Amino acid sequence: MKKITIAIDGYSSTGKSTIAKELARHLEYVYVDSGAMYRAVTYFAMQNGYIDAEFFDRDTLIAALPYIKLHFEFNAGLGFGEMFLNDVNVEKEIRTIEVSSFVSKIAEVSEVRAKLVEQQQQMGNQKGIVMDGRDIGTVVFPDAELKIFMTASAATRAQRRYDELKAKGDDVSYEEVLKNVQERDYIDTHREDSPLVIADSAIEIDNSDLTREEQLRIVLELVLRFGK
Ligand code: DC
Repeated sequence: MKKITIAIDGYSSTGKSTIAKELARHLEYVYVDSGAMYRAVTYFAMQNGYIDAEFFDRDTLIAALPYIKLHFEFNAGLGFGEMFLNDVNVEKEIRTIEVSSFVSKIAEVSEVRAKLVEQQQQMGNQKGIVMDGRDIGTVVFPDAELKIFMTASAATRAQRRYDELKAKGDDVSYEEVLKNVQERDYIDTHREDSPLVIADSAIEIDNSDLTREEQLRIVLELVLRFGK
């Protein structure tokens, strides 16, 4: 079957990356987590003191963008590419609640988006790619053959993220995680540049009550339908 481009967008913690990774493995496609790239830029900004709870030096971050080198390296054990920032593996560091609490601010900066979108488009120029994010079907790959928009209630998503963070040993409360999910939903859908919207022709899947297996079956059927 001809290789296609698959764009998966949706709110945070809707399980986009889980389904995207499984889909890529089944189809032998490349999987790209575009959120990891925004998280890596956020981590860079935190490390350099450009952002904290009270302060964001946007202009200095923009000036430093040429010094931010991002790439993914495939980890066969994990089955996906891990995020590297200036040749250092930051896969763990970018998944903390601190990074989650600043990332939407970084993702609002048009200069950051332009740099990351260009790199994402290059990664997809051979097709055979599954990319997840917020603007993949609208901005990065507007011509993707298959566009999926994942949704689930904020409470379901917060519970999933809370369980994940707890399993990693992070000391967080459910209320803190729910607040973070709701704040990110607000910023992601209200920002001026590339807000999260349902792309024309995207297929919406509410996975609040779906198992992983059910979701994968639904998406694989869609690939068969749209991939011809
Ligand atoms: O998917 P995620 O939660 O890891 O993404 C982290 C943040 O990055 C999210 O709050 C919004 C932003 N993001 C974005 O603006 N555009 C993308 N394509 C992917 C993520």
